[in-house]
This record gives sequence, structure tokens and C-alpha cells, in this order.
Amino acid sequence: PGVAVYDPGFTNTASCRSAVTYIDGDKGILEYRGYPIEQLAEKSNFLEVAYLLIHGELPTKNEYETWQHEITFHTFVHENVKDLMQAFRYDAHPMGMLLSGVGGLSTFYPEARNIFDTEARHLQIVRMIAKMPTLGAWAFRHAQGKPYIYPDNELGYAENFLAMLFKMSEPKFVADERLVKALEVLFILHADHEQNCSANAVRSVGSSQVDPYSAVSAGIAALYGPLHGGANEAVLRMLRRIGSKDKVPEFIEGVKEGKERLMGFGHRVYKNYDPRATIIKKACDDVFAVTGVNPLLEIAVELEKIALEDEYFVSRKLYPNVDFYSGLIYEALQFPPEMFTVLFAIPRTAGWLAQWLELVDDKDQKIARPKQIYTGDRTLDFTPREQRW
Ligand code: CMC
Repeated sequence: PGVAVYDPGFTNTASCRSAVTYIDGDKGILEYRGYPIEQLAEKSNFLEVAYLLIHGELPTKNEYETWQHEITFHTFVHENVKDLMQAFRYDAHPMGMLLSGVGGLSTFYPEARNIFDTEARHLQIVRMIAKMPTLGAWAFRHAQGKPYIYPDNELGYAENFLAMLFKMSEPKFVADERLVKALEVLFILHADHEQNCSANAVRSVGSSQVDPYSAVSAGIAALYGPLHGGANEAVLRMLRRIGSKDKVPEFIEGVKEGKERLMGFGHRVYKNYDPRATIIKKACDDVFAVTGVNPLLEIAVELEKIALEDEYFVSRKLYPNVDFYSGLIYEALQFPPEMFTVLFAIPRTAGWLAQWLELVDDKDQKIARPKQIYTGDRTLDFTPREQRW
């Protein structure tokens, strides 16, 4: 205390102690509560992983069934929240809608302010994880001018989300199992990532002891930014702009000259490879087997090949991150680019809430208040306007 260390972007400052997610950036390791991401992606499902993140351990059969039941039966939102969503302009970005929808939920559940009441807390956690796909799907339908679809509580988490997005007139929506599985995997990969920009935003805002809806909406706001959750949307725009495989070398030269960044490359923590990118590449194959290959894939593969052999990227330890391929999958699943960040926010809600819970229970935590290095003027004499003008 009392000593200010200049650390922009907090690259050397630990703001908390956490037992949620472990990352070893040099070795390319990512673990949730000690379990390797590869095993969770292969053997688990999103709701079980969400339980693990929130509760710290895997559920028993009973615990899982109760959790699943609770989440499933909180998927509906108050009709007035629907009105709130409908009030947006036709071309509103779905992340802006989600941000407001989740922030707005705090007013529907005033008991959420009792953040030290464990029962009330649990209820808000269940509600938020449950309602996120509903709000996300409605934001998507809004942009298309289509009526919102209510949740179908007989469906699983990811399948229900797909139904709310794409069900048209069929009375019983059936999504391709392989696509549901791919979405589950993507949800698991995005569920948490320790102290990234949005988790830090949730913790920072949460440290004021505000309700969890408001804290999570701060996380959504952080994720909205192109350097965080918006990167996969930017990857697709970049691939489209490049246009064809033969234009890749020219584009890479532009990146090296500093004209722009190669989106979907580089990571603050992973300086070897991003383990999520490896799993996503495999999910790409599974999805494209159902939907047919996205023509932009060819450009992405060429970009990766050239960049991985180029001194500029090698010396800076720049490798594909989770966003490099996720956008291609989302596009193949018929999502417009503006929805990509929503697909990130839905599963990350579990991680944000796990981080928030840890913060609230940590007796060492104080209201976030970083120091600054002041660089402005001091003790100036104020000259009245009539003498200055
Ligand atoms: N393309 C070209 N050069 C890059 C890139 C890139 N994507 N990323 C970093 N560099 C260069 C950068 O110019 C700098 O070079 P120099 O030392 O010559 O000035 C050097 O590499 C270090 O960059 P940095 O900005 O200090 O690295 P950082 O750790 O602060 O930034 C990053 C990490 C993810 C913001 C950055 O790599 C980036 O902007 N990547 C593109 C956006 C992106 O894909 N974001 C998704 C991140 S993964 C999702 C998530 O987990 O949130």
C-alpha cells in the first residue's frame, strides 16, 4: 500500500487469488477447477462444466439432475423484458441488446442485491445461466424482424438455444446431433478464462457489492470490444476482405508493416499455442461434415500456414487463438457475425459468475481502486473567463 507501480493492462499485477481456472501460457495448458479442457470438451457437457465452475467440483447424479432441472425451469423471462428487447432499433447490435437485457434483469429481481445471502445468490446464478440463451436468441430474432420464440423446456441447453434461434413453423424442432455437440464443445471452451478483460470487469464492478446482474452486464460490455469477444467477428470480416487464397501473402506483408493486426492471432497469455484453438479446429471438421465447407476456410488455412512460418509472427510468439476458427463454425451454423460475441457471452456467464462468487466470498477483497501515476499540471491559478478570452 502506498507504492504505485505503473502496470498498464495489469500484465504483472495479480488482482485476486483464484481457484477457478488455471492457465499455463507457455505450455498451452487450460484447466477448469483442475480438469484439463481437452477432457472436459470430449467427455462433459456445458451444464456439467457450468456446475463445476460454480461449485468447484463435479456434480453427483442427484446434484446434476437438480441443477439441470433448476436451469431448465428458469429459461423464461418476464414479458416486460421481452418488451425491453423489442424496443430496440431493428439494426441494434445483439450484444448491446444482451447487455441491456441482463442489466435490466436486476430490476426484476431486487433480492439479487442480497449478495451475502447464499440462497438468493444461488437463485440469481441459476436464473442468469438459464436466461442467457433466451435473451441471446431474441436479440438474434430481433435483427431479422422475426417473432421471438419461447424456450422449450423439454430440450437440452444448447438444443433449446438452437430452437429459439432457428425454429420456424415446425411444432417440434430437431437439431442435428452433431451440431448440438459442436455447440456444446464451443460453450465449454468459452466458459471461463481466468482474469481476462471481462472477468476483471465483473470483479471490478462486483467489488462495489452491486447485484450480480449488473456485475455480469459489465462483463458483457467488456466482451463487446473487438480485442476481446469481438475478435472472431473481425476474423470473418478480415477473411472476406482478403477475398482469396492468392491475396494472403500481400495481406501478411501489410500486417508486418503495422497496417493492421492479423485478427485471431496472438494472445496475452498463450505464447506457445492456444489449446482451445486445437479443439476448435477439430470441431470445424465435424460441423463442416454436416453443413459443407465454408469457402473462407481455405483463406484461413493459408493465413495460418504462412504466419506460422514467418519470422514476424514466430519471434513475437503469435499463434492462432480460439477466435481464429470459431467464427467459421458460427457462420456455418448460420449465425451472422454480430451474433458471434453473443455465443461467447452465453457460456462465459458461468465463468463470470464463478469469478463473482469467489470475489464475494473472499474476505481479503476490497473495492477495486487502482492507483495512477499522475501526469497532469498542478496548483495552477485559475484565470477568470473575461481575462482569458
Ligand atoms: N497481428 C499482428 N501483430 C500482432 C498481433 C496480431 N494479431 N498481436 C500482437 N502483435 C504484435 C504487436 O504489434 C507487438 O509487436 P511489437 O512488439 O513489434 O510492437 C507484439 O506482437 C506484442 O503485442 P501486444 O499488443 O503487446 O500483445 P498483447 O498481449 O497486449 O495483446 C492481443 C494480445 C490478443 C490483444 C493481441 O495479440 C491482438 O490484438 N490480437 C488480435 C485480436 C484477437 O485475436 N483477439 C482475441 C484474443 S483471444 C480471445 C480471448 O481470450 O479473449
